Amino acid sequence: MKTRLLTSHSGSLVGTVAIPGDKSISHRSVMFGSISQGITKVTNFLLGDDCLSTISCFRKLGVKIEEHASGELRIYGSGFQGLNEPKEVLNVGNSGTTIRLMMGILAGRDFFSVLEGDESIARRPMTRVATPLSKMGAKIDFRNGGFAPISVRGGALNSFEYKLPVASAQVKSALLFAGLQAKGETVITEPEATRDHTERMIRQFGGTVEKEGNNIKVRGGQNLQGTSVRVPGDISSAAFFLVAGAISEGSSITLENVGLNPTRSGIVDVLNEMGADLQILSQDLDAAEPAGTLLIRSSRLKGTTVGGEMIPRLIDEIPIIALLATQADGVTVIKDAGELKVKETNRIDTVVGELKKMGANIEATDDGMIIQGPTALQGACVSSHGDHRIGMMLAVASLISEGETILENPEAISVSYPKFFEDLDNLKKIK
Ligand code: S3P
Repeated sequence: MKTRLLTSHSGSLVGTVAIPGDKSISHRSVMFGSISQGITKVTNFLLGDDCLSTISCFRKLGVKIEEHASGELRIYGSGFQGLNEPKEVLNVGNSGTTIRLMMGILAGRDFFSVLEGDESIARRPMTRVATPLSKMGAKIDFRNGGFAPISVRGGALNSFEYKLPVASAQVKSALLFAGLQAKGETVITEPEATRDHTERMIRQFGGTVEKEGNNIKVRGGQNLQGTSVRVPGDISSAAFFLVAGAISEGSSITLENVGLNPTRSGIVDVLNEMGADLQILSQDLDAAEPAGTLLIRSSRLKGTTVGGEMIPRLIDEIPIIALLATQADGVTVIKDAGELKVKETNRIDTVVGELKKMGANIEATDDGMIIQGPTALQGACVSSHGDHRIGMMLAVASLISEGETILENPEAISVSYPKFFEDLDNLKKIK
């Protein structure tokens, strides 16, 4: 097993980070490029392991995808009809977004395909996508209990009205991809608003999708056209630096080109609520995906409560918010976040277990965690458990911990942020 030695950093963190491309938007750019007509050019695409899995799956479906030396990705789409039966199994690696959204795309194709992934994927629930897709007419089979590997025999789909039992952008997006191939209009109702990158991209590629309250309506048979996509930086990656800057004394970190889609920016609200010194230096709200430059400086922090409809807006940031809370005065309660149990790891268990090893005062609850701060953390032997966001959270924790930290499985971080340690180390150089 690989390990990485992490040393504490008593100095401040100062400098600028160009945040790498958004993972959710990068996946979708390949998917929409592949199902549209013509060439799609993507800049600032995230070349992390998860998005590379998406590229590999679409290549196996016969789509030509070029990675140019300039960093631009070029996708030569021929519409949904241009996808061909794959000769091999489609391996999604660690990527839940790839497997779930692909199910929606494959559901409408008149061929047979098999999706598989790593050990973590094999533990994640898939019936939440398979059940509604079967109602639309797809034939989907899976291992006992609804787990990958999954087989999809797609074909003609009927539209339907469906109320999502869980707030999940992955399920919503899979149904939107299926709805684009179905006869008639599909109506999806969300219990709470989730990230809307798929809806924005349907429009960017020339299609229509309507939102009325919690209902999202899409018509089948639309002609989507290839276009240019500029992927903003991932706010979920920026979050690790926002927290590192907020909790490391004397820090001042500028984060450039951070996606600020309101369905994703819950971390900004939580930092403000906790008293962080966070400024938005500039922003472009009119772009297909809003983005801006953020400046974070260290400050005194206070505990807060995070729950309700805020949860989908920051679901992936909860591990790093838990660390933030260990440094805030008072109690922080994270609730209504039972979905954490079915992420890359059970993030209630992994966050609480690993932060406890470092001396945090943190307890698991059924739908979240309770953290009492502030606590001085100590270096320890900790593990990412193969979960990129747990790995990055622990690396940030090690900065403010006394003594050395050994991180097991640090390579998991390349799923969403291959240059993470390089970018973090650059901020330490300036004293
Ligand atoms: C994602 C949706 C969220 C999120 C995941 C990416 C997406 O998952 O946690 O990292 O790109 O649609 P759920 O849809 O399961 O909530």
